[in-house]
Amino acid sequence: MAVIDDLPKIESEAAKAIAAAGDEASLESIRVAELGKKGRVSLLMRELGGMTPEQRTTAGPALNGLKDRLGAAINARKAELEAAAINARLETEREDLTLPPRPEAVGALHPVMQVFEELAAIFADMGFSVAEGPDIEDDFHNFTALNFPAGHPAREMHDTFFLKPDAEGQRKVLRTHTSPVQIRTMMTQAPPIRVIIPGRVYRKDWDATHTPMFHQIEGLMIDKSTHMGHLKTCLTEAFSRFFEVPTAQSRLRPHYFPFTEPSAEMDMRCDRSGGEIKVGEGNDWLEILGCGMVHPNVLRNCNLDPEEYQGFAFGLGVDRLAMLKYGMPDLRPYFEADVDWIKHYGFKPWLLPTVTGGLS
Ligand code: DAH
Repeated sequence: MAVIDDLPKIESEAAKAIAAAGDEASLESIRVAELGKKGRVSLLMRELGGMTPEQRTTAGPALNGLKDRLGAAINARKAELEAAAINARLETEREDLTLPPRPEAVGALHPVMQVFEELAAIFADMGFSVAEGPDIEDDFHNFTALNFPAGHPAREMHDTFFLKPDAEGQRKVLRTHTSPVQIRTMMTQAPPIRVIIPGRVYRKDWDATHTPMFHQIEGLMIDKSTHMGHLKTCLTEAFSRFFEVPTAQSRLRPHYFPFTEPSAEMDMRCDRSGGEIKVGEGNDWLEILGCGMVHPNVLRNCNLDPEEYQGFAFGLGVDRLAMLKYGMPDLRPYFEADVDWIKHYGFKPWLLPTVTGGLS
């Protein structure tokens, strides 16, 4: 049968041409010449229609086999050529990383990141380390372990983003606060614990003062004799340093959070008379964070005995704090990736804030 007799010759010719192809364009023209609509192999395949069934049983598999082998050889050669092209580029396009950056090309640190760094430095000075947790949380860490009972209205309070149910029917959430990392920390570290937890959090909200993603810092201290006095002193001192005033004054107002008992909101003394807010003086108060003593149920959920251990926790919104300290009037440009805005409000990278060397 003529068709089959030609195949070994076609195969060896094509294989030679493929191996010799020096670039992707010549490889493509070989593919078209052999396997394209009017290619040599494709034309032979058309002859299958005119054959007897017996002829077809041998010619069909032989032709298909050839087609597959040529296709595979072309792909393999293509991968070789691509790798060679990348290696050639890597050889020629060398960057000298020891050169100093061009002044016009230096980026700026976002004010939110600057505030993270400032607070990390302040709390590090008081013996707190930084802990982190996942943005996608399960119901247990985000709610249940934090003493939000099932069906409790506080769960709705958070305008939660729910993910589609997984294989077990569990619906994960985008964490609505950084508090779940309290749970993760208490379940993996033995007291005494002192951590701050910076991170992104998510709620269904969008206007001049709310964005669906924003930033919080959580704080947690667990030991055998921690009390509300420690909470108040530690936070007042931290905000004195943060706002760079000699003595900040704070007050605690009773509040409700499911995961603390007692719970409070903390306000800083401030002055609003001159059109801008000055912390540390005046007769006004500025709400700054939520806090309280960790609820015994939360300790128990983390296998800690509330008879032995106690501690305080706090949580604050970083975006608003950055607006306050650096005088930015609107929250929305934070997330618009506007180069002029970041040039104006951004901070020099590499100049990490330190308590001794200066914060801002
Ligand atoms: N998780 C709370 C929220 O996002 C904030 C908060 C309040 C955190 C009190 C705390 C706390 O750790 O003690 O609304």
